[in-house]
Amino acid sequence: MTKTILITGANRGIGLELVRTYLGMGDHAIIACCRSPEKALDLQTLRDSSGGKITIEQLNVADEKSVQNLTTALAGQTIDILLNNAGIMGGRESAINVDFGQWMEAFKVNTMAPVRLVHAVLENLKMSDDAKIMTISSQMGALSLNSNGAAAYRSTKAALNKVMQVLALDLSTMGITVAVIHPGWVQTDMGGTAAEITATESAAGIASVISKMTPAETGSFYKWNGEGHAW
Ligand SMILES: NC(=O)c1ccc[n+]([C@@H]2O[C@H](COP(=O)([O-])OP(=O)(O)OC[C@H]3O[C@@H](n4cnc5c(N)ncnc54)[C@H](OP(=O)(O)O)[C@@H]3O)[C@@H](O)[C@H]2O)c1
Repeated sequence: MTKTILITGANRGIGLELVRTYLGMGDHAIIACCRSPEKALDLQTLRDSSGGKITIEQLNVADEKSVQNLTTALAGQTIDILLNNAGIMGGRESAINVDFGQWMEAFKVNTMAPVRLVHAVLENLKMSDDAKIMTISSQMGALSLNSNGAAAYRSTKAALNKVMQVLALDLSTMGITVAVIHPGWVQTDMGGTAAEITATESAAGIASVISKMTPAETGSFYKWNGEGHAW
């Protein structure tokens, strides 16, 4: 069945591979959002060969005005899947050396922006008969993983997990399924070349989890391979 999927941070890394994955999965319509469409050459190439299945929208997820513009651009259009992918590290320092400015920026992008995006396209999601919101979190945000380093990043993803768990309950009465997922340790600019899996493998896993996810599983934390992740 044809779905419309909105992906943030779609110009590189896991986001770009999510676009490629959904393009290869059939007749889906993909709204690929990125900060600088004019610089997103790989995404433009995909769009140009997609037969009209990919549209590119300018979106800085941390900028309220930019998000408002997206709401206006998409008015009246059904969205079946919102994929909150955009994210930043916010520094890799330990808690005793954390850079407060970078930490604040990471909170805006990693924690608050996914919720802002839900607000922005809620009317579009309500038009779907099987709406799903998947947000890319990280094992580094799991309270069950007791390790240190990258304190800013870990805390923004931990807060993201909690707010999405709460949002799942908020939206359950509307039939909208909400979950978070650890995408694996992935070979991207963020994950580095030593990472365990490719962005293509990660994206395929994420799309598979989304396709199998049912309203009964709302509020779940997954791994990219479909297993549950401990909170
Ligand atoms: N790679 C890993 O091992 C790993 C592990 C766990 C979780 N994750 C999570 O997976 C997601 C994707 O990560 P990745 O590895 O693909 O990282 P990446 O290669 O660094 O790509 C990050 C993406 O987020 C976008 N972005 C950042 N800030 C933005 C903003 N304010 N507005 C719009 N887009 C913004 C970037 O756009 P620009 O090009 O404009 O900067 C880029 O498209 C993130 O949420 C990350 O935390 C990754």
